[in-house]
Amino acid sequence: MSTETKTTDLQVIISHCKEYGFIFPSSEIYDGLGAVYDYGPYGIELKKNIQEYWWKSMVQLHENIVGLDAAIFMHPKTWKASGHVDAFSDPMIDNKDSKKRYRADVLIEDAMAKIEDKISKEADKAHKKFGDAFDRAMFLKTNPNVLRNQEKINTIEARFKAALEANDMADLKQLIIDLEIVCPISGTRNWTDVRQFNLMFSTQVGSVAEESDTIYLRPETAQGIFVNFLNVLNTSRQRIPFGIAQVGKAFRNEIVARQFIFRTREFEQMEMQFFVRPGTEMEWYEYWKNARIAWHRTLGFADSDLKFHDHIKLAFYANAAVDIEYNFPFGFKEIEGIHSRTDYDLKQHQEFSGKRLQYFDPELNESYVPYVIETSIGLNRTFLAVMSNSYKVEKLEDGSERSVLSIPPFLAPIKVAVLPLMKKDGLPEKAREIMNELKYDHMCFYDEKDSIGKRYRRQDALGTPFCITIDHDSLTDNKVTIRDRDTMKQERVSVSELRAIVAQKVDWRRY
Ligand code: GAP
Repeated sequence: MSTETKTTDLQVIISHCKEYGFIFPSSEIYDGLGAVYDYGPYGIELKKNIQEYWWKSMVQLHENIVGLDAAIFMHPKTWKASGHVDAFSDPMIDNKDSKKRYRADVLIEDAMAKIEDKISKEADKAHKKFGDAFDRAMFLKTNPNVLRNQEKINTIEARFKAALEANDMADLKQLIIDLEIVCPISGTRNWTDVRQFNLMFSTQVGSVAEESDTIYLRPETAQGIFVNFLNVLNTSRQRIPFGIAQVGKAFRNEIVARQFIFRTREFEQMEMQFFVRPGTEMEWYEYWKNARIAWHRTLGFADSDLKFHDHIKLAFYANAAVDIEYNFPFGFKEIEGIHSRTDYDLKQHQEFSGKRLQYFDPELNESYVPYVIETSIGLNRTFLAVMSNSYKVEKLEDGSERSVLSIPPFLAPIKVAVLPLMKKDGLPEKAREIMNELKYDHMCFYDEKDSIGKRYRRQDALGTPFCITIDHDSLTDNKVTIRDRDTMKQERVSVSELRAIVAQKVDWRRY
């Protein structure tokens, strides 16, 4: 038996990612570039596997969803039409003493989260006092302290929502002052006014400055899908309802890029736009809400680490929006957004391009601009969630400790490590034969250096679900041991069965 602890310390995850070749700070030899990261040998495998799993779940398993890979650069009118030039901004505020910049909305949300935390702690304390007989739901409904704090949250939320909706930056600042929010660096309340800050990066195309045009790095992949709506419709034999999926880089000049790869200025999105008949969008909104949270569970995330969070302020294009939040080491935060975008984007592109972006519905015998339900998930955030969920330090029976990444086998960067017990007596040659047999199907890792115990620990830290060890008996009985990362149990199996055994163990259909 071993005892395990899941870490709540982001620094531990960051160090592990660096030490074991998952993620490095960008251009580190020049002291790095703030909030930009590079994915190392194991990081790229894990990221690729998450992306491929999403792609298979969305495109391969749905006959009515097709893929697309649109360019990052798009015609500048795209962003005027989509509303991003005029309205894609965050409210920012600076602390005059520390000179640090913050998102005003995040400061207020964090203040509300602190009160929520108080409520939860109060309930936990009561639970401890009253034991099994404790009725949490009743406590939350009746305890005077809880009710007072809940009332506080409701009041802040109502004021916050009204200020955002009215674009009232002065009231956002006043709310920060009234809530007595201090800068975490300087500890003071010496704030500037709140200003809107557009998040798009711009650059120039064309060789001569005077002739060049300003273009933008896309802040979301979605617009590449909207502008290709007709192309895909006319070439894919799809009928409504159908979806278009895309994975790719997006760029936002985030005011505060922090918490490792959670919020960066360059990141990857996995988005799907589902085109539906107007009037049916709420049914499909519910459908995708449920389908997407179920997908997160297949990554091994516990129910208690996932929740929905309805948007306080809807984006300019949405009539309903919800986030799926994951319980990261720094608390519950958005990992995916599900948005009912109405016919806003297609209508805007229709107007700005002068092209008719409509669908002829043979059942209704009429044409219309379809409504859209969007599912939009961050690949890097999903990576961080998988890492945070998988990283554990286990205390073993003999008193030693191991760090292990219990990544679901189908996502693990390396599926199998092939380890000859010794570097002599023909064991490496036998191990190479096995490596050659498995490497066409899976990412494998050959290692003959160090003691077998050390090699197991290294593979545990990389999240390799299976280690195959070749010993002297293997040369005569043609059997090897296969060690399971999570249970550390070893099983002796025939070399001839290995391919089938490994294939079955890492099959994504099991999840
Ligand atoms: N097309 C809709 C859209 O872009 P969003 O909620 O702004 O919606 C969707 O972004 C997802 O993209 C988020 O849930 C998050 O996982 C990811 N994301 C957004 N900004 C990010 C950033 N700065 N760094 C990393 N991931 C980000």
